[in-house]
Formats: sequence, structure tokens, C-alpha cells
Amino acid sequence: MTAGSDGRVIRGAVLTYRDDPAVAEPDRAVRFYRNGAVAISGDGRIVWRGHAGRLPERFRALPSDDHGEALVLPGFIDAHVHFPQYRMLAAPGKDLLDWLNRFTFPEEQRYASPSHARAAAEVFLDRLVQHGTTAAVVFSTVHRSAAEVLFAAAERRGQAIVSGKTLMDRNAPAALCDDPESGARDSEALIARWHRRGRLRYAITVRFAITSTEAQLREAGALAARHPDCHVHSHLSESAGEIEFMRRLFPQAKDYTDVYDRFGLLGPRSLYAHGIHLSERECARLSESGTVVVHCPTSNTFLGSGLFDAAHVGRSDRPVRIGIATDVGGGTSYSMLYTLGEAYKVAILGGRTPGAHALFHLATRGNAMNLGLDDEIGSLEPGRWADIVVLDPTATPVLEARHALSESLEDTLFALAILGDDRAVRATYIAGRRVWGAAPGPE
Ligand code: GUN
Ligand code: ZN
Repeated sequence: MTAGSDGRVIRGAVLTYRDDPAVAEPDRAVRFYRNGAVAISGDGRIVWRGHAGRLPERFRALPSDDHGEALVLPGFIDAHVHFPQYRMLAAPGKDLLDWLNRFTFPEEQRYASPSHARAAAEVFLDRLVQHGTTAAVVFSTVHRSAAEVLFAAAERRGQAIVSGKTLMDRNAPAALCDDPESGARDSEALIARWHRRGRLRYAITVRFAITSTEAQLREAGALAARHPDCHVHSHLSESAGEIEFMRRLFPQAKDYTDVYDRFGLLGPRSLYAHGIHLSERECARLSESGTVVVHCPTSNTFLGSGLFDAAHVGRSDRPVRIGIATDVGGGTSYSMLYTLGEAYKVAILGGRTPGAHALFHLATRGNAMNLGLDDEIGSLEPGRWADIVVLDPTATPVLEARHALSESLEDTLFALAILGDDRAVRATYIAGRRVWGAAPGPE
């Protein structure tokens, strides 16, 4: 790493969360040091953070990146994104199923070629860091080799990803179908090779209910039972057409959530994208099981799937854990800033106006908790990996003009969520190494 064996100091306006600002007092939840510093050890972990004036003597001689008034935050965590869809954003489907059949399945078939997947993995991981995203829960394709090359590329970069081979054995082109036995066998082999290797984690990945037979869901549940330390990653209750199809395929299930529940696929390590049309019974069951529902606002509006109701899903007497994600390529931007802005718009359409601190918490520490990785990532506390994004609140003329009116840190963050995107990302660090952006210095 550029930090060298002795480490590095990153200076700027340091912001991190110790609690959820939506529920805790700001003094408890928010840590902000306008002239702040983060000291990083040679192995890429944070060893200190606070007011730059209080930087301990032993770190003062370390090489330093001084970002001045720019914000230094924990890197964004994208809780649901599709690597093989990296170049098919803005494909105009009439709804989810039309979009899958016309654009997505044909594109994903290319990933049978390991060389295609290898090149795509590099572009995809580049895209993440260009947008300030330092960790992600990533869908791959049905091909074992595509999952392999993605893990290998992330490992070379020292990047934390949770991923896995997709399981799908029906209602898709034959070239994208495995079968219950081969899917389970390939998943086992990938878990043995990649799970907990460095910063990588495995997710047992059922695409969604309608592309798996009961036999395959049973195998997936058995995998989850054998590997309780692995994540489970899938889609749930996204579009009307999908739900109708699911009902025909699983007439004995109480509802969509029950399809997964019957096979042991709910739990605190399970992440389900969307959850737009969940009933009261489903929310109660998701809450009880500790399952995470991941809100994907740009995808939900682009595919016309519906408006996620965070007040309903997160209701305080039976709260379901809620994450946030881009869902590229159903989602229309890799930017978690843009995604936060769209989440705000979806919320206000439902009568809620989440605060900017709550939004930024969700994209950092909140998602780290959703992944069960908050002791590793998501904040700038000592011991965590130095995965960091540096944001410039004056990055564009529009942001600059708006920033002149900013009245508080929260107001600055709000403007970044509504107006910001990759142009606001000045630098990205993974394990203390600058992987995006130029070295800061005199203009
Ligand atoms: N449901 C099943 N597959 C997909 C996918 O690729 N994208 C989205 N948004 N939903 C899905
Ligand atoms: Zn998705």
C-alpha cells in the first residue's frame, strides 16, 4: 500500500457514526471533527481518529493526505448490486420480468466465458471505488467461474465483498440454469475456497423464488444450515407480475416470504432486496427472524416496481432491519449519494422526511450492521479497516453555490445526497490505500 509499512494519516473534516441518528441523540450518534485526522497502521487498520490538533506524537511524522475542508467518511457500503449488469443500466423494460427476459438474461449469458467475466469484474470493481463504495453485497451469475473471477479480483484489491454463485434452475434460458445438485456442489466448492479468505465472504444466492424449484430451495436451505456463518442473498416482493407468478408456482406457501421461510432461508445473515409489497404477516416474520430487507430506490422507480414503505416495514413494534443499495443494473446509478437522494424522495412521497444524518448512517454503519460486519467496516473507530471516502461538498458549480448557503453539517450532507454523485468523490481508500482520486495537494 502507498501508506508504506509505517502507515498514513488522512486529514479533513472527519465524520463517523457511533449510533443511529434516527433514534439516538445527535451528540451520541455523530462524531465530527472539522479539522480532523484518521491515523492508519501499515496493515490498513484505523488506529486513531479525532481532532487533528490532538493527533498523538507517534503519528505526526507519518505521510499524510490532507483533504482540507472536504468530508472524510467511512466508505459507502452497497448492500445489493449485480456485477454482470455493470453495463446494462438504463435498459427500458416494461416491468421486472420483461426487463429480465429482454435484456438481463441475454447479457448474463456472456458470463459463461471466464475471460469476459474477468474483464467485467475489473470494470465493475473500478466503478464501485470511483463512486466511493468500498464494500458491497454482489450478485454474480449462475456460472461458478464468474463468481471465481470476481472473488479473485476483489482479493487482489483487498476489497471486502460478499458474493456467491447464483442458483437458478427454472424459468430462465437453459444456458443460465444449473440444477439442484450441481448448484449445491458448486456453492460448496466456492465456500471452501473463498469464504472468509481475507476480506471475502460467501452468500448463498437464490436469484428469486420463481427461478428455483423446490428441490433447489431445499438444497439452498441445507447449505445455509451447514454454513450458518455464510450470508443468504436474494430478491423478495419486488413487482406485481413476479408476485403473481410466485403464487402460481408455490400455491401452498402463505406468501412470498413464506417461500423462503419454509426452506430455512430467513435469519440475521439473510439479505433480501426490495420488499415493496410485504404484508403485515410477512413483516412480522421478517422481524422475528432478524432478516434484512434492502431498499433499492432507483431500481424500484426505474422498473416501476413500486415505492418502498420504510414506515410500514420498519414499524417500531415489529421492526424489520432495513438496508440500502443501488441494485445496478435495475438501479440507475452506482452512486450511493444519488441513491440516498432517491430514498429521500421515495420517503417524502410516503409522508416521511428522513434526516441527512440518518441517510448517511444507513449507507455506512447501518449497512455494515446489516451485513454483520460493523466490527470491520462502516465507521472510523480504531480497529476497523481504513475504508474511506472523501467527499467534496463544492465539487460542481451547483453544489458550490448551494454549499454557500449551507447552515450546518447536516444541511451540507443533505445537499450532497440530493445533488451529489461520483463527481463529489474526491478520493477513495481501501485498507488505507488510495485507490481512486489524485493525491491532495496545492492546486
Ligand atoms: N429479481 C430477480 N432477478 C433480478 C435482477 O437481476 N434485478 C432485480 N432488480 N430484480 C430481480
Ligand atoms: Zn437485484
